[in-house]
Amino acid sequence: MYVYDEYDQQLLNERVAQFKGQMERYLAGKIAEDEFLPLRLQNGIYVQRYAPMLRVAVPYGQMNSAQMRALARVAREYDKGYAHFSTRQNVQFNWPKLEQCPQILADLAEVQMHAVQTSGNCIRNTTTDEYAGVIAEETVDPRPYCEIIRQWSTFHPEFAFLPRKFKIAVNAVPGADRAAIQVHDIGVNIIRNAEGQIGYRILVGGGLGRTPIVGEEIRSFLPEEDLLTYLDAVIRVYNQFGRRDNKYKARIKILVKALGVERMAELVEAEWERIKNGDSKLTAAELERVKKHFTDPAYKALSDEPAELTSARAENAAFARWLQRNVRAHKQAGYAIVTLTLKQKGTPPGDVTAEQMDQIAMLADKYSFGEIRSTHQQNLVLADVEQSELFALWQEAKALGLATPTLGLLTDMICCPGGDFCALANAKSIPVAEAIQLRFDDLDYLHDLGEIDLNISGCMNACGHHHVGNIGVLGVDKKGEEFYQISLGGNAGENTSLGKILGPSFARDQMPDIIAKILDFYVAKRSEGETFLETYRRIGHDPFKEAIYGPAH
Ligand code: HEM
Ligand code: SF4
Repeated sequence: MYVYDEYDQQLLNERVAQFKGQMERYLAGKIAEDEFLPLRLQNGIYVQRYAPMLRVAVPYGQMNSAQMRALARVAREYDKGYAHFSTRQNVQFNWPKLEQCPQILADLAEVQMHAVQTSGNCIRNTTTDEYAGVIAEETVDPRPYCEIIRQWSTFHPEFAFLPRKFKIAVNAVPGADRAAIQVHDIGVNIIRNAEGQIGYRILVGGGLGRTPIVGEEIRSFLPEEDLLTYLDAVIRVYNQFGRRDNKYKARIKILVKALGVERMAELVEAEWERIKNGDSKLTAAELERVKKHFTDPAYKALSDEPAELTSARAENAAFARWLQRNVRAHKQAGYAIVTLTLKQKGTPPGDVTAEQMDQIAMLADKYSFGEIRSTHQQNLVLADVEQSELFALWQEAKALGLATPTLGLLTDMICCPGGDFCALANAKSIPVAEAIQLRFDDLDYLHDLGEIDLNISGCMNACGHHHVGNIGVLGVDKKGEEFYQISLGGNAGENTSLGKILGPSFARDQMPDIIAKILDFYVAKRSEGETFLETYRRIGHDPFKEAIYGPAH
C-alpha cells in the first residue's frame, strides 16, 4: 500500500491548518456564507438535509487497519456511531457538526487520510477493482496507475475549477469492467498490445445522473508512459470547451455528445501532440518508484484447498454457502479473497458501526496483512486470507453480522441515502431497500435466483447507480408524493447497458410485490443456468412490461 512521503504529509498538514483558520473566521462571522461554501467543499463538506456530510477519500478503495480504526473513532466521537461506504469507494459521515470538521480532518491526517477533492468541481478519487493485485485475471495491478493519477490530480492547479466534478476509473481485467469505467468521465482500461507492451484503452464521456451515457473509446492504445499527458489533454479540452452556463450540461459527456466522439478525439489528440513529451510524461524510474509501494505482502508457500478447509466445508453447509458466494480465488496458492457484506437486514446498505469498524480492523490484522478494501457495491474486502483460516474468519465475521452470504445476489443491493439524509431526494430509498430485504430473506430462494443487481436512487442524480442495475429503482415525486419508477436491463459490468423504464411508477408499499412479480416472471421464463440479465436480454423488455402492467391496449 502507498505510504505517504514527507511531501504528502506536509501538504496535508498545511491544508488541515488552513481549513481550521477558515472555519474559525467563518464562525466568527468574518467569512460570509457564500465565500465559505467553496472552502468547505474543497474539504469534503456538504451541507445536507439535517446535518453536514463529510466525505473522506479512500484512494482506489484501499485502507489499512489504523485508518479503519481512525474512521471508527470519528464515527464514535463526532458522529452517530456509524459511517457509510459509498459506491465510489469513499466513506461518508452523515452527522458531524460543522465546527468539528477541522478537528476530524486533523485526526484523519494523522493516519494519512483526508477529504481533499471529495467534492466540488475537481478531479475526484480514482476508483478501481477492489480485487486489484490479488486476482490472476488482471493484466497488471492497476493500483500503481491509480496512485500516479492520485498524485498528479491532487491539488492540480489547472484543474481546480472545472465545469463540474470529474471522475476517473481504472480497470485492468481483460474482457471485464470491474470498476464501472464505462460510466465514468474517463475510463482507463489497462491492456497489452500485440507486442506485449502495457498501455491503455481510453474511454470518455460516460456518466449517470440526469443524462446517463455509456462512455466511448477515443484511443485504442496509449503507451504506458503517456498516461498523464493524455489525461491532461482530455481534461484540458473539457476545461476549455465544457459548458459552464448550466450545471446539468457541464459534464464531459455532454461535450462529447455535442461534438461527436471523432471531433472530441481530434481535439484531444491535437492537444496531446503539443504536450506529450512535456513534464508529466512518465519515466521508467517514476513508474518503478510508485510500483514499489504495491509489492505483494509476505505470502507463505502454501497449497490450495488445505485439509482444514475441505473438512469444514463438508461439515458446515452455512460455511460452504458463504465460501461459494463471498469468497473468491486468489492469485497466490493457499490464499483467498473474502468480501465482508455490509448488507444486514434492517441496516442501510453500506452502513457500518464504529464497533464493527474496530472489529474489521482487528480481522484485517489477524487474517489479512492489516489491509481492507471498500467496493463499488458498498462492501468491504479482506484480500489476502489464508484458506486454512477461512473457517475461523467466517465465525468471527458472522458474529459481527458481516458474513451474509449474498454477494452479488438480490439483497446485496446498492442504495443511496435518499430522503433520509439527502436534501436533493425526491423519495426515500433506504425504506425501499429494507422492505425488499425483509421480503426476500430466504437464502435458498436468493441463491436460486442467482446473480442480480438491484440499485436504488432517491433522485435522478443516480448516486445509487439505478441506471446500471439489472433492476433499477428511482425515487420520483408525483404531486408531492413519493413514488418509484422501475427500469430493467441495466448493467455495469462488461457490456455496460442503461436500464429501460418499465412503465408508470409505484407507491412505496407496492414495491416488494412488484419486485416479486418481476422475479417470478424471470423464474418462469429463464432457461437453464441463465441469469436475470441474460433472460431479459434474450426475451426483451415488452414481455416483462406486460407481466407487470397487463397486455398493452
Ligand atoms: C447525502 C448526500 C449526497 C448528495 C447531496 C449527493 C449529491 C449528488 C449529486 C448532485 C450527484 C449528481 C451529479 C451529476 O449530475 O452527475 C451525485 C452523483 C453521484 N453520487 Fe451522490 N450525493 C450524496 C450521497 C451519495 C452517496 C451516499 C453515494 C454512494 C452511495 C453517492 C454516490 C454518487 C455517485 C456514484 C454519483 C455519480 C453518478 C454519475 O456517475 O454521474 N452519493 N451525487
Ligand atoms: S441519488 Fe439523489 S437522493 Fe440519492 S444521494 Fe444522490 S442526490 Fe441524494
